[in-house]
Amino acid sequence: MTMQDEIRRRRTFAIISHPDAGKTTLTEKLLLYGGAIALAGTVKGKKNTRHAVSDWMEIEKQRGISVTSSVMQFEYNNCCINILDTPGHQDFSEDTYRTLMAADAAIMVIDASKGVENQTRKLFKVCVMRHIPIFTFINKMDREARNPFDLLEQIERELGIKTYAVNWPIGSGKEFRGVFDLETRHILSFEANNGQHTVSKTEVSPDDPQLAEHIGKQNHLQLAEDIELLDGASEDFNLEAIQSGTLSPVFFGSALTNFGVEPFLKRFLELTPPPLARIANGIEISPFDESFSAFVFKIQANMNKAHRDRVTFLRICSGQFRRDMEVYHVQGNKKMRLSQPQMMMAENREVIDEAYAGDIIGVFDPGIFSIGDTICAPGKQICFEGIPTFAPEHFARVRHKDTMKRKQFVKGVMQIAQEGAIQIFHEPDSGMEEVIVGVVGVLQFEVFEHRMRTEYNVEIIRESLGYQYIRWIGGISTDTKPKLIISEDTKLVQDFRDQYLLLFTSEWNIRWALERNEGLELLDFSKN
Ligand code: G4P
Repeated sequence: MTMQDEIRRRRTFAIISHPDAGKTTLTEKLLLYGGAIALAGTVKGKKNTRHAVSDWMEIEKQRGISVTSSVMQFEYNNCCINILDTPGHQDFSEDTYRTLMAADAAIMVIDASKGVENQTRKLFKVCVMRHIPIFTFINKMDREARNPFDLLEQIERELGIKTYAVNWPIGSGKEFRGVFDLETRHILSFEANNGQHTVSKTEVSPDDPQLAEHIGKQNHLQLAEDIELLDGASEDFNLEAIQSGTLSPVFFGSALTNFGVEPFLKRFLELTPPPLARIANGIEISPFDESFSAFVFKIQANMNKAHRDRVTFLRICSGQFRRDMEVYHVQGNKKMRLSQPQMMMAENREVIDEAYAGDIIGVFDPGIFSIGDTICAPGKQICFEGIPTFAPEHFARVRHKDTMKRKQFVKGVMQIAQEGAIQIFHEPDSGMEEVIVGVVGVLQFEVFEHRMRTEYNVEIIRESLGYQYIRWIGGISTDTKPKLIISEDTKLVQDFRDQYLLLFTSEWNIRWALERNEGLELLDFSKN
C-alpha cells in the first residue's frame, strides 16, 4: 500500500458526551467490531473512575488508565481507525478539550432520556470552533426516551447545528421495536429478550404486510406519521454541510444491547473525512504532503516517582513517520530522534516502526516539549497554529507553607503550568509569592498539590475561590492596566504572559461588565 493509500484510509475521531450517556459502552462496541478487544468490559475500570476521591492511589490508577487509553487504533472495513479518548468524570480537564484539537471528527453520544447535557455542550463548542464534522448517536433507546422530534429540535436549538436523521426509532423503552433506516428504507428490528441484553436483528421492508403485527399497531401508525413528516420537513443529505460541521447525521440506537452500532459505524466511516489539512504559518499543510509533520496536543506527566519522564502525544499532520528517523523540533530549534515512539492498541502499548498522517503517537519526553509545539522533517520550515487555552472553571489561591521554599514553589508552579496541567494567574503588579491557580476539572487541584509535594518538596496552602468564569479581554487596549467598570466581586488578573483577564462569579456579572464597558469583548478561550 502506498503512503497516500495509508493516509486516505485513516479516520481519527473523538467521542464526546456527558458522563453516563454511554461513551465507554459505545467505544467498547466499536472496538469489538474492529476485533481490537475480545471481551466487553476491558476498556477501563470505570467503576473506579466514577468513585475516585482524593485517595491518591485512585488518581494514580486513573492516570495509568488514561495513558493507555489515550488513543485506540483498530481496523475495520479496510479503514484504520484512531479513537481519541476524551477524559470525562472527575478527570475532565483541559486535556479533554485539547484532545479535540487532534481529532478530524467527533461522535456526540446523547442519552435519549436526557437530551443535550452540560459537558456535551462544552465539548461541542470546541468542535464548532474547529468546524469538524459531528455525528450524533442517540443512545439508550431500550430505555424510556424523549420524543425523537424533541431531541432533534433541542440539538438544533441549543447547539446551533442542523440535523439529518439517518434512521428513526420505533418506540422506546419496553416498546422499542427497532429503527427505520431513512436511507435504505428498511427496518432493523429489535427484540429484547426478557430484559436480557440480546437482540435479534431482522431487516423488514415497511411494505411488509406483517409489519403491523411485528412492531405493534400503534408503533406502525406512529412510524407512518413520522416518516411522512420527516420526508416533508427534514434536512436533505448534504455531504459538504456534514463535512464542514454544520449538519449532523443522527443515528438512534442502544450501545449496551449493541443495537444499531454496526450500521452506525459503517455509515460513519463512509461520511467522515480522512485526515484534514492543518494550518501552519497561515498555509494549509495537506496530510498527503510527503514530508513528515506533527504537533504536540497532550503531555502526560508520569506519576511514577521512580521514572520522572513524561509521555508527549503527537498528532501526525502530514507524511509518514518512521522509527529512528531524524526530526526537527521547531520551538526547541533542535534536530533529534524521538525516543520509543509508541501507539496504544486498546489495552496494549506497542513500540511502532511507522505511522501516518492522522495517527497519534506517544513519545518519551525528558521535558523538552510544550503543548502546541511543531515537530517536522528537518529543513521543513513550518509552525502549526497553537492550541487555544481553554477557560478554567475552578480557581484557588495558592501559596507555600514554608517561606524558605519560595524558589521551589515558583519552579514547580511554573513547570506544571508549562506542561498545561494547570493555568496560573496573579493579581496585577504582584509577584509570585501567591498565585491563583485555575483548572478545568477539580481533580487537577489534587494532582497539582501531590506533584508539588512529591516532585518539588513543597507543601502548599490552597484556598478555594468562588469564581466560575474567566474571560480573556478583547476589543480594548490592554497595553497598560485597563480601567474597567466591574462589579465588586469581579477580579482583574494577569496570566504569566501578563495578559489581562477577568474572573467572574456569575454569568450575570459578565453581562454587567459588557453592558458598562463600551467596546469590551470577553472571550472564553485564548488563541495562542
Ligand atoms: P460514559 O462512558 O458516557 O460515562 O457511559 P457508560 O458507557 O459508562 O454508560 C453509563 C451507564 O449506562 C452504564 O451503566 C451502561 O451500562 C449504561 N448504558 C450504556 N449504553 C446503554 C444503552 O444503550 N442502554 C441502556 N439501558 N444502558 C446503557 P452501569 O455501568 O450499570 O452504570 P450505572 O448505571 O450503574 O451507573
